[in-house]
Amino acid sequence: MHSPTRVMFFCLGNICRSPLAHGIFEDHIAQQQEEDRWHIESSGTSAYHVGEAPDPGSQRVATQHGIHIGAQRAQQLTTHHIETFDYLIAMSRSNLEAARKICPPEHEHKLLLVRDFEPTPHNADDVPDPWGHGDDAFEEVFSILSQCISPLYQHMTNDK
Ligand code: 4NP
Repeated sequence: MHSPTRVMFFCLGNICRSPLAHGIFEDHIAQQQEEDRWHIESSGTSAYHVGEAPDPGSQRVATQHGIHIGAQRAQQLTTHHIETFDYLIAMSRSNLEAARKICPPEHEHKLLLVRDFEPTPHNADDVPDPWGHGDDAFEEVFSILSQCISPLYQHMTNDK
């Protein structure tokens, strides 16, 4: 049996977007009954919210879709994470740039942008930052991410 594929979702604060990506991906692999084949975490490029639970807006929209993210706690993305995970998935171009700054060159190929996997046509690279915005902003983040997760899963499965 292969060791689990290690996937890190990351944004700026690790309280809004990447906890949702983390939860949606975990839900997807649970539906495939593949929990033991994947190790999933999320993090932020900043240390602003380390130790905090996801934002109430993210928890609310996740719960509305039957996904529990309330036990997650924010952590900061480190070079060690980049060295020890197989895929690190950025929520926005600026998050990707921040990760590149702490990424040894031989690991750069692991850094991916989540909206590159969105199947429907779109003009944006970034999952919009919903922090401090209303419920609609969190709903939009959920909707974008739920479109990206299955193609992303497929991409990583094909690589296995
Ligand atoms: P996230 O949202 O990166 O999706 O977790 C944010 C959370 C906090 C801040 C910015 C974005 N902040 O500036 O504290």
